[in-house]
Amino acid sequence: MESEFFGSPDQQAVLARGLALYDLLCDHPAMTYYGRGVGVLWGAPGALDLMARLATVQGVSNCSFIPDANVPALRADLEADGYSITHYAAWEGSADALTAADRILDAHAPAEDISVHVIDAKSPASHLQALADVSLEAGVLPVAGCILRGQRRPAVSVVALDGKGQGVSCAAAATYAHPDHPEYGKVAWWGMLATRPDRKGERLALILGAIALREMRRRHGIKRFFTGVTAGNAASEAVCRRSGFAPRGRSIISPVDPRVLRGGKLTK
Ligand SMILES: CC(C)(COP(=O)(O)OP(=O)(O)OC[C@H]1O[C@@H](n2cnc3c(N)ncnc32)[C@H](O)[C@@H]1OP(=O)(O)O)[C@@H](O)C(=O)NCCC(=O)NCCS
Repeated sequence: MESEFFGSPDQQAVLARGLALYDLLCDHPAMTYYGRGVGVLWGAPGALDLMARLATVQGVSNCSFIPDANVPALRADLEADGYSITHYAAWEGSADALTAADRILDAHAPAEDISVHVIDAKSPASHLQALADVSLEAGVLPVAGCILRGQRRPAVSVVALDGKGQGVSCAAAATYAHPDHPEYGKVAWWGMLATRPDRKGERLALILGAIALREMRRRHGIKRFFTGVTAGNAASEAVCRRSGFAPRGRSIISPVDPRVLRGGKLTK
């Protein structure tokens, strides 16, 4: 099945391999996917071997919900194998995040010139392009278009457009693990937050992030979320904290083959 992909040619190639592998591996109990590369869950039997092979095939992979204490050794092993590593703190949110979303949407609304669109299968390609423009300008790689459109997994993506139809902010969420997984089957990744520099500070990230959370609950019954935050991203930490998320001692590690992605990173 075809999908829309965004980003550099190298990024788009990685996204296409990720989607193809998801199609092959979606029944694997340890797999994770929300529209970039296929990754694995910490603690599943054989998960780290699977991640190494996924990184070889895709050029990227990830392992999530690693206890923070296990990160240094895992990181050292992967670096010894030649991978560039991005380390994200996993910020997690459940009832607090859903309560925060309701509070944010009661208290704040976008400026008059802005229209907010939840993307679906029938959304015009121009809405996805506008989302991709604002996301990529902020250094955030949009997930595969079929995920943005909610066609492959329970997912919600949101774009805010200005009066000229240009993207000013975006957010997204998607389920993550095998739907039958006892612990993570009803957990969703949340994020892809980006706001155009000239519209920062208007609480658009808070509003769009809250819409994504609320719609995941309303449409798909999802009540647990997580996101990855890199050390030093103060703006991201502020938005996550205000959105009811907090770090709970777990991490996400993403190995990238620097021969596949120059710069050694798939996304912020
Ligand atoms: C993170 C980002 C999306 C925030 O967008 P935004 O629309 O300006 O954020 P908001 O206006 O909704 O701000 C939400 C809260 O965060 C705070 N905040 C925003 N930027 C901040 C910063 N640089 N430092 C500290 N706090 C900050 C705001 O003050 C606000 O809190 P308040 O309501 O208590 O005043 C934007 O800075 C961005 O695009 N960054 C680059 C991409 C990125 O790193 N995305 C996150 C990774 S997925």
